[in-house]
Amino acid sequence: MRFSPRFLDELRDRVRVTEVVGRKVRLIRRGHNHVGLCPFHNEKTPSFSINEQKGFYHCFGCGAHGDIITFVMETEGLTFPETVEQLANQAGMPLPARDAHEEEREKTRRSLYDVMELAAVFFESELQGARGKKALAYLEGRALTGSGVAPFRLGFAPESRSALKEHLTGKGVSLDEMIEAGLLIAPDDGSPPYDRFRGRVIFPIADGRGRIIALGGRTLDPEGTPKYLNSPETPLFRKSAVLFNLGQARKAVGQGALLVAVEGYVDVIAMVAAGFGGAVAPLGTALTEEHLGMMWRMAPEPILCFDGDAAGQKAAFRSLDLALPLLEPGQSLRFAVLPEGEDPDDLIRAKGAGAMQSVLAEAQPLSDVLWRRESEGHDLTTPERRAGFEGRIMGFANQIADPKVREHYRRLYQERIRELFGGAPAAKSGGLREWRPPMPRRKWGEAPNPARDHRESRAFSGQASDALKRSLAARASSHAVISSVRLLEALLLAVLNHPFLLEAEVETLSALAIEDAQLDKLRSELLHAASSGQTLDSQGIRDHLTDRGMGAVYQVMEQRPLLRGMPFTQAGSAMATVREGWAHAIRRYRKLTDLEDERISAAAAMKSDDTEESRLRLDEVDKAQKSPEGSEAGPPDSSAI
Ligand code: UTP
Ligand code: MN
Repeated sequence: MRFSPRFLDELRDRVRVTEVVGRKVRLIRRGHNHVGLCPFHNEKTPSFSINEQKGFYHCFGCGAHGDIITFVMETEGLTFPETVEQLANQAGMPLPARDAHEEEREKTRRSLYDVMELAAVFFESELQGARGKKALAYLEGRALTGSGVAPFRLGFAPESRSALKEHLTGKGVSLDEMIEAGLLIAPDDGSPPYDRFRGRVIFPIADGRGRIIALGGRTLDPEGTPKYLNSPETPLFRKSAVLFNLGQARKAVGQGALLVAVEGYVDVIAMVAAGFGGAVAPLGTALTEEHLGMMWRMAPEPILCFDGDAAGQKAAFRSLDLALPLLEPGQSLRFAVLPEGEDPDDLIRAKGAGAMQSVLAEAQPLSDVLWRRESEGHDLTTPERRAGFEGRIMGFANQIADPKVREHYRRLYQERIRELFGGAPAAKSGGLREWRPPMPRRKWGEAPNPARDHRESRAFSGQASDALKRSLAARASSHAVISSVRLLEALLLAVLNHPFLLEAEVETLSALAIEDAQLDKLRSELLHAASSGQTLDSQGIRDHLTDRGMGAVYQVMEQRPLLRGMPFTQAGSAMATVREGWAHAIRRYRKLTDLEDERISAAAAMKSDDTEESRLRLDEVDKAQKSPEGSEAGPPDSSAI
């Protein structure tokens, strides 16, 4: 059902946001607002704030933001219409009257649900009856009788063209309704309609509220085709927007289960029986955007589980490409890879739930899977190929619509590129850095490694090592000191405002390690201008940069208050101030970037080899980054930062 904007506005006016949120979060009044602990991320001090007047909540910690409707959708995993209905009921607001046409369609839908329910009951009883013996034996053979039959309402459609038709006719259902529900096939030539499902085990498919909306039927004959026959699209059933076991999984996920998408009906049933209650499956199609949206409303990082063969890899990559533009802060996917040729049902039966648990514990973040897809199996030995690779991987990062997530992908990949190509100076303390593959994880379909399993499952359960926690804490406090990027901007701005530096420091400038692509380009253009042989003034350089499309880049720098507070970057400062400030900033920049490199390599070392030694190394870097020498020894004029 569609709701008019007016109806929704009225609903928002009538229901207080503190009331809705207050059911889940303990709220304290603070000034005009209410605050509490954010339900969308873990925190100890409240950063979740509610503006009652404007009717929204906002979390200053994780950025969660919305109104009563999004709050209920997110915290209870309901769809939009379900949420609106629920809130309207609570507010005592009658749902808006629908037009006659919509009313008619709603009535049809309602009776189609009844028809589907009658069919499911019929098939359930057939499975237990005389005609169902073979099917029951088949299910027994697949260990599906206990866990599958009752909870999933499995059934059997007898080998007959009219068994269901006659049964439903006896219940007063018309042929048209049976056809519309997809239960009968009506031949084009006008001959009588007949049962669609014959001689098949029936897997009823329910919507989020548990109403049967479609059926899947598996042939008992190992050679039978198709193996699975599903309901056609009907007014109740749109394949691309339905997940098998959605309703039950939602409950389980609400109680802490992992949300895992697998491929088949039987896999879901086996997963649930093995204790993975949050298993869902699409219905014989690839995952769609709608499927992803449904899963993200239930859990921020669902796991997609694929076969370890080429087809499984292809399916995983397809889902990855689909998800990439849709990533949001905190919202992503993880990819779990099964041993080649086994589905979750096979694996659990052969090796038990523990084996499945290991597979899930090995689930890899989307960012890693994408990195490996683009970097592995390519010859990256020449500068040109490396540049091509860099362009490709950054191109993927740029597909991400959310600017924050995009920026973090860019940063991560820039760090890894540096690591991979050894562009950074070798770590000073450790001598020549040993080359390691950037991602010491397993390849698609490679057998799990128990030692690594242990490590990864620890990371998986959210228990970061102490060293990692400390370093994260250090990161969090580091906004108090100037970043290497700002420092670099200061250096470049100084050059822009004092062109004599361009000549005097051309070598220093060209040797600087620059990670940020824009600033790197700005540097190149400055050097380019310097090599033109003309004596350039500030305005000349600016014109050149503007011609090369870099106007916005230097204008942003000019506007930064932080840089304005550093006299050596500003036009009109004395030459001595400029020289001294520049020299100082250069030393500091080198120190910071060296430390950053060292930090990346130490973190990578710890990741692949979590020993006392590697922890100490990471700790040392953290200390150095926080130390006055590493971070605060700025030029005299920058004491304000
Ligand atoms: P699989 O062929 O992997 O089957 O199809 P499965 O789930 O392992 O089934 P079993 O174990 O042999 O019984 C995976 C899913 O693809 C859809 C079904 O949803 C199935 O669960 N499918 C498969 C179809 O819709 N039609 C088919 O003919 C085959
Ligand atoms: Mn199977």
